Amino acid sequence: MAKKKISSSKEMGSIPDLLAHFLADTLVVYFKTLNFHWNMVAPQFFMYHKLLEEQYKELQGAADDIAERIRMLRKKAPGSMKEMLTLASLKESPSSLKGDQMVKELVHAHEEMVKKSHALIQYAEAQKDQGTSDMMIERLRFHDKQAWLLRSHFSA
Ligand SMILES: [Fe+2]
Repeated sequence: MAKKKISSSKEMGSIPDLLAHFLADTLVVYFKTLNFHWNMVAPQFFMYHKLLEEQYKELQGAADDIAERIRMLRKKAPGSMKEMLTLASLKESPSSLKGDQMVKELVHAHEEMVKKSHALIQYAEAQKDQGTSDMMIERLRFHDKQAWLLRSHFSA
C-alpha cells in the first residue's frame, strides 16, 4: 500500500501555528461541554452532568498543556476568546439544543478532534518533534475515548 505523503511545512504551516488552531478548537469543545453540563435536559441528566464535568476539567488542563507547548517552541500562545474564535474551525453550540442533539454534537466534535490530532501527530513526527507528537497522542486517545463513550448512547 502506498504511504501517505506528509505535507511540507510550507503547505501545513509551522507546528506552533497548528498547535494554536488545535488549542482554539480544544477551547471550543471545552465551552460546548461546559454549556451542555449546565443546560442539558434529558432523562439521564445526572449521568451526563457528571461525565461532562470530567470532560471539561480534562479539556481545561489540555488547553494549558497545548499553550505551554507553544511557548516551549518559542512562540506566543493566543490568549483571548476573540483570537480563539478566529483560529478555531469548530463552531460553538446553542444551549437550546435537545439532550440527544447535544450528545450528537459532542460526538461530532470529538471525532473531528481525533482527525486533527492524527494529522498533527503525523506532521510532528515528520518534523522529528517528539515532544509535540507525544502530547498529541495523548489528545488523540482522550478524544477517541470520549467519542466512543458518547457514541454508545446511540449505537454499538
Ligand atoms: Fe458543575
